Amino acid sequence: MTVLARADAEGIARAVEILREGGLVAFPTETVYGLGADATSGWAVARIYDAKGRPSFNPLIAHVADLAAAQREALLPEAAVRLAEAFWPGPLTIVAPAAPGGSVSELARAGLPSVALRIPDHPVALALIAALGRPVAAPSANRSGHVSPVTAAHVAEDLSGRVDMILDGGRTAAGLESTIVSFCEGAPALLRPGAIAREKIEKALGLKLAAPPRAEVLAPGMTASHYAPNARLRLEAHELEEGEAALDFGGRLTPLASDGAVTLDLSPSGDLVEAAANLFTFLRELDARGALRVAVAHIPERGLGEAINDRLRRAAAPRL
Ligand code: TXA
Ligand code: MG
Repeated sequence: MTVLARADAEGIARAVEILREGGLVAFPTETVYGLGADATSGWAVARIYDAKGRPSFNPLIAHVADLAAAQREALLPEAAVRLAEAFWPGPLTIVAPAAPGGSVSELARAGLPSVALRIPDHPVALALIAALGRPVAAPSANRSGHVSPVTAAHVAEDLSGRVDMILDGGRTAAGLESTIVSFCEGAPALLRPGAIAREKIEKALGLKLAAPPRAEVLAPGMTASHYAPNARLRLEAHELEEGEAALDFGGRLTPLASDGAVTLDLSPSGDLVEAAANLFTFLRELDARGALRVAVAHIPERGLGEAINDRLRRAAAPRL
């Protein structure tokens, strides 16, 4: 059931409780309404993708309360700090290498070594993030492929019954998403034009923004920088070959494993939300445990299964 609440002190307090328990809260920012979850919980973030009906795991923006919080999550070069000081709080998202020890979950970063951060310029959003005391992951609060919502009613049209709460803070001011600038490799690059004009950012930086590197914005999952395991994956496995590790789902392959074989079950109970929450962490874990070949159990193509299978197919694709 979706609670529609006014974004007053009481509504915000309820929303914080819901986020703390791993629930979903749609909330206003100065750009568009965001579909928020605790960014540090892979499980909560998995529910965002599920509610949006996203066919693949796009990396999400983690909303933070202040610059110090941003610097705990990302290695911000000096130019990024200058830009942050000029435009935060505001509709600027900075993508930078994730800091060691950062708290944003692997799933929110879609397995990338980088993280997207912004401080929204909206009292409701800021109160929510500050009270939670953790970054809030939030894409726009619409079903995948629909237009971004600028009122609580728009959110309800798309997501009623799919989120725990919608905080109504009236119409958003900008009505356009944040401008995304990447400080990952080479010169700062404009990944997405948005509510702050390119010229303003170039003026603050004292240089021209570069074009985004390759297909990164359109399809983050396809880039070389996107995490792919060293191990070779064999999908739709129904049995285990000699020397294979198992990436299981619903306990199908695990009983077939010989002693000492590495087996990880994305969700022993066959829950696709749990499987999504574990996916990127388990791919890393397989590498850490030295698996060279991995049999991956069949994962149903419904719900989050579509996004999980999309990611597994990319991870299994032949590489250069
Ligand atoms: O105004 C906004 O930015 C709104 C409000 C809610 O804050 N949020 C929003 O989020 O538009 P979303 O998920 O719809 O767009 C986030 C985009 C992704 O599609 C992706 O292109 C980019 O941010 N992104 C996030 N993390 C990235 C990363 N590590 N590397 C490259 N691109 C990234
Ligand atoms: Mg969007």
